[in-house]
Amino acid sequence: MALCFTPQNHMMRVVAIAVLHLLQLMAVTPVLHAATNIALPDCISKCGEVSVPYPFDIGAGCYREGFQLTCNETYNVPKLFVGNTRAEVLDISLHDGKLYINNGVVSVTGSNRYSMTWEIPLHNTIFTVSSVWNNFLVMGEHPAVATDGSCSGVGCCEASMPGAGSLYSNELASFQARNHMIMEEQPFNATVVLVEKQWRDKNDHSVLLQKAVSDGSAQSMQIKTAVKWSFSNLSCADAQSSSDYGCRSYNSYCHDHCTGESYGSFCRCSYGYEGNPYIVKF
Ligand SMILES: *[C@@H]1O[C@H](CO)[C@@H](O)[C@H](O)[C@H]1NC(C)=O
Ligand SMILES: *[C@@H]1O[C@H](CO)[C@@H](O)[C@H](O)[C@H]1NC(C)=O
Ligand SMILES: *[C@@H]1O[C@H](CO)[C@@H](O)[C@H](O)[C@H]1NC(C)=O
Repeated sequence: MALCFTPQNHMMRVVAIAVLHLLQLMAVTPVLHAATNIALPDCISKCGEVSVPYPFDIGAGCYREGFQLTCNETYNVPKLFVGNTRAEVLDISLHDGKLYINNGVVSVTGSNRYSMTWEIPLHNTIFTVSSVWNNFLVMGEHPAVATDGSCSGVGCCEASMPGAGSLYSNELASFQARNHMIMEEQPFNATVVLVEKQWRDKNDHSVLLQKAVSDGSAQSMQIKTAVKWSFSNLSCADAQSSSDYGCRSYNSYCHDHCTGESYGSFCRCSYGYEGNPYIVKF
């Protein structure tokens, strides 16, 4: 049984079997459940509320090298992390070769200028923090933090990433406008986050984030950064002729990450199919 499957076909099969032979349906049902599994046999497929599909996993023998995650069950709702890092995994998409992490907020205090390094602790042959998807937001100190969601340079400013990567040096400077003159301001206190632009624009997230910064609760807010991942750092053309080709399921195909900023490939289920393209069968 291939792991990329059409839900419709299965439905039709279940109905047909039910009509022909009711008892046989009971034997078929567990197979249908198994087919929806996204992890290797005897491996964990969920941590808290997050699904964990292969090539990611937690236990030895369950993940591909570089894709190990940690499930910390000491939280009320267990939390998933990349390896042994503090980057919390919020969601993993097999279809888009994308995952969402919450890398938290960085608070910076300084005099009128501040240099900081900002880092996502991810293995850079597999993961790329995309500059197409994410922007830095720098939110100022109360009462100068904007709380209406606007980010035009007063109480909040936004900067695009200088390129894809996972380590940045930022130079922050704070200014105060007085009598129509821009003066350099004294000590400042700002909060820096890297957010997915799409997340920022949805459901008043900008307003919520700014309010959380303003009242000091931003640490507990779930902030989404979008990260690309590749199953292989080879292109599909090269991967196909290697022994390490990942698209093993029937009805799966290889897809190149097609933006200029990252290379590598991952697998997808063919159109109309869902499941895990990396798993052949149980
Ligand atoms: C789980 O999280 C708690 C709370 O943050 C931390 O103290 C603990 O070290 C973590 N456990 C592991 C195995 O990472
Ligand atoms: C590609 O991945 C292999 C392991 O799968 C690694 O040894 C190699 O260094 C990677 N190459 C690049 C250019 O990242
Ligand atoms: C910076 O501002 C936050 C609230 O926005 C506050 O919790 C924190 O104590 C401030 N830090 C300093 C050093 O002023």
